[in-house]
Amino acid sequence: MNQSSLSALNISKEGEGSMEMKDQLNSILESFKDDIKDITDLKQVEDIRIKFLGKKGLLTDVMKGMGKLSKEERPEMGKFVNDVRGEIESGIEKMKDSAKEAMLELQLATETVDVTMPAGDVEVGNKHPLYLVLDDIKDIFLGMGYKIAEGPEIESVYNNFDALNAPKDHPSRSMSDTFYIIDDMILRTQTSPVQVRTMKAQQPPIRVIAPGRCFRNDELDATHSPMFHQIEGLVIDKGITMADLKGTLDTFAKRVFGSQTKTKFRPHYFPFTEPSAEVDVSCFKCGGEGCRFCKGSGWIEILGCGMVHPNVLRECGIDPEEYSGFAFGMGLDRITMLKYEIDDIRHFFENDMRFIKQF
Ligand code: DAH
Repeated sequence: MNQSSLSALNISKEGEGSMEMKDQLNSILESFKDDIKDITDLKQVEDIRIKFLGKKGLLTDVMKGMGKLSKEERPEMGKFVNDVRGEIESGIEKMKDSAKEAMLELQLATETVDVTMPAGDVEVGNKHPLYLVLDDIKDIFLGMGYKIAEGPEIESVYNNFDALNAPKDHPSRSMSDTFYIIDDMILRTQTSPVQVRTMKAQQPPIRVIAPGRCFRNDELDATHSPMFHQIEGLVIDKGITMADLKGTLDTFAKRVFGSQTKTKFRPHYFPFTEPSAEVDVSCFKCGGEGCRFCKGSGWIEILGCGMVHPNVLRECGIDPEEYSGFAFGMGLDRITMLKYEIDDIRHFFENDMRFIKQF
């Protein structure tokens, strides 16, 4: 309701009381209009609301006079008061909107960003040494046509041991060596179960590497950690021989430790390969002369490998008469420690930036 509609209000039988009240209300409205002329922020709007509409506000004050009016005057005066209140309320709403706008404009004007200012210091992390070496190893094998395979860290006893031809009484199955979750579920002790998963999911040709975390119930010390990393390799095709295995791992060793590196295959036993071998590389510190690093032997052991056992192929649905293959498994932590001459495996997992920043 605007000024003209207010004055057009037809108040009949106006007595003195209602005349006076009407004057008061009109002057309240006038002063409200005056007050809102130069509002710039929401706090001012709230102050005005309290001044006019608050419990002890001007309008409430006038309302107290209602009691003095005659019965006939009251309804019309009530309507007049409500109209004034309505006008003030809608005025306040409008003010709120424009105050918000004004505040935003002010904020936009004062908080401009100078894009030419030099940026503050941002601390950039760097790749963990394990991942640097993992990326190198992935590159080497991807370049030879391998794919990356993955498997879960919580594995079945079947995939981790049984399907891999591990004897029922093999000590590695015991609770003192392996973390059991339930009777037939464990934290995998090696990445070799990924071989089983891969062979069961696809027919040859297969050429994969499977990097991942493994777990063993080992006491933590400079060279052992209950959580560590392995990289598994598996190749199955027609006519794969030990020569392919030797050539592959020799190429791998030269790429990781330098082109002058020699490899040596020592007979060993693994349940899932036959024949099996451990592979040593010539010491990249002394070139094979013998030093503190290779404990005088000139050789450093880096992985286990062999030709996939026919029992394993059969168990995974691959005919050993038609196909053959090789597998290998290496400790990523160990290879990284050798490559960067890190003397304690615990450094990898302590998250100390002074260590990580050196790579
Ligand atoms: N899984 C073995 C271990 O944890 C490492 C290994 C040896 C993997 C020979 C292989 C292999 O695939 O052929 O000690």
